[in-house]
Amino acid sequence: MNLVHKWFCRSRRWQTALENGLPWVIDGIDLGDPLLEVGPGPGLATGILRRDHPRMISVEIDGNLAIESKRLVGQGVRVLRGDGTRLPFCEGAFSGAVCFTMLHHVPSERLQDQLLREVHRVLRPGGVFAGSDSRWSRLFGLLHMFDTMVVVDPDGFGERLESAGFGDVHVDKIEGAFRFRGTRVP
Ligand SMILES: C[S@@+](CC[C@H](N)C(=O)[O-])C[C@H]1O[C@@H](n2cnc3c(N)ncnc32)[C@H](O)[C@@H]1O
Repeated sequence: MNLVHKWFCRSRRWQTALENGLPWVIDGIDLGDPLLEVGPGPGLATGILRRDHPRMISVEIDGNLAIESKRLVGQGVRVLRGDGTRLPFCEGAFSGAVCFTMLHHVPSERLQDQLLREVHRVLRPGGVFAGSDSRWSRLFGLLHMFDTMVVVDPDGFGERLESAGFGDVHVDKIEGAFRFRGTRVP
């Protein structure tokens, strides 16, 4: 991420946006225990999630951000430096998985699809993958100058989740964002 983006992901404004926005994505979903989070960044969403999820593992590709998220270690959270497209876990290791505002940082649709397949692989049958991402806007484009930005089109994302193996797929759009969920079918 570029420096502005890193600053924003640590900001009070982003903390408030997550406090207000995460319930829209995960309320009513039983994510169970243990929960996998892909792409925690500096860990603001992790800090909110751990209130209700006593055992979490967060996988972050950026070594410095992974170290920053480690402040939550010991509060039920493990943070690993790793790549969501090649998760270091065995099949069926997690009861639920989440990712927030990170898919557009995965540098191609092919790698994004690989990440979806990897999350599917490490979920137990019946496990739910839920998440959200931003939709393109001029401000979003500006925030990502000199940064990776492969915006995910919510129209068609349901089919991509199904191609990765998920069933019971839902994708909902609002201005500026979309949420999704899918279940690993046995
Ligand atoms: C915009 S930040 C979002 C952070 C956090 N989820 C939040 O909502 O505050 C996206 C994060 O995804 C991470 N990321 C990108 N590609 C990844 C991958 N393949 N595996 C794990 N993390 C990845 C980036 O390093 C960055 O920290």
